[in-house]
Amino acid sequence: MISTYQATCQARVDGALNSLFTAPAPELARLYEAMRYSVMNGGKRVRPLLVYAACEALGTPAEQANGAACAVELIHAYSLVHDDLPAMDDDDLRRGQPTTHKAFDEACAILAGDGLQSLAFAALLDDRLSPQNEALRLQMAMVLANAAGPAGMVGGQAIDLGSVGKKLDQKALEFMHRHKTGALIEASVQLGALASGRATAQQREALKTYAQAIGLAFQVQDDILDVESDTQTLGKRQGADIARDKPTYPALLGLDLAKAYALQLRDQALEALRPFDAAAEPLRELARYIVERRS
Ligand code: IPE
Ligand code: IPE
Ligand code: MG
Ligand code: MG
Ligand code: MG
Repeated sequence: MISTYQATCQARVDGALNSLFTAPAPELARLYEAMRYSVMNGGKRVRPLLVYAACEALGTPAEQANGAACAVELIHAYSLVHDDLPAMDDDDLRRGQPTTHKAFDEACAILAGDGLQSLAFAALLDDRLSPQNEALRLQMAMVLANAAGPAGMVGGQAIDLGSVGKKLDQKALEFMHRHKTGALIEASVQLGALASGRATAQQREALKTYAQAIGLAFQVQDDILDVESDTQTLGKRQGADIARDKPTYPALLGLDLAKAYALQLRDQALEALRPFDAAAEPLRELARYIVERRS
């Protein structure tokens, strides 16, 4: 069950995202359709929620962070389109629907992913979505570029694919998770804080600790759900990690210890928010949601 807060944020980001997929020429209709298909399809919008919640935790209205919220979801959607390709995880179900390369074709899915990545930076730098001054917008673009790129998510994906069938120890697994999933989640919180225009260095440091803990917890829970959820609830194929011999937390620690670890990370995240007042309640709620979610 998602909360009213989550539903409000989802509607806000979906409204902003929806305007980005109008093809500028009829020749581009299919590409734009594939991009729209990959984004406007019922994702949980956890990363935009984190952007908004971090912005609000610092006392700034969430609307100021629309550019950042769209940008992180566009990067995420691109990463999923490519993650599902035959050359990567080779999945045919995503968010309860055929994956983009199944609904369109592989070349179209590759290009749709490429297009979404560019759109992410365009949205972040667009002053109608990001009312921040130019210097702040540039700082935000750098945060996103680092998190999405080879030192962040792309690097994590490379490690993931290079580790299939190998036994990683906990340190190596954590390194991989922190990159492939943690980096974009951490950037989401950081971007929300930057978009607020009023984060102190101390607050940004506390938010970083929070974000690192939930970023890791998010992928640990994703791994747990692959084992114990079902395809209908997940909207993606249950058991896909096991079938492909992917390095995961349940594979390394067993299900019980993996679950205990997720809860420990949630508590670390909540502890980091101790100096914040009631405005950080949505961030606290998200930390709980991330380890309690069933999909
Ligand atoms: C799934 O992300 C992929 C990971 C990074 C673990 P989400 O669980 O946020 O997927 P959607 O966006 O809700 O479909
Ligand atoms: C995907 O991790 C992470 C990124 C796309 C960056 P997974 O491969 O575990 O995601 P799912 O389980 O397919 O959603
Ligand atoms: Mg993968
Ligand atoms: Mg996958
Ligand atoms: Mg997974």
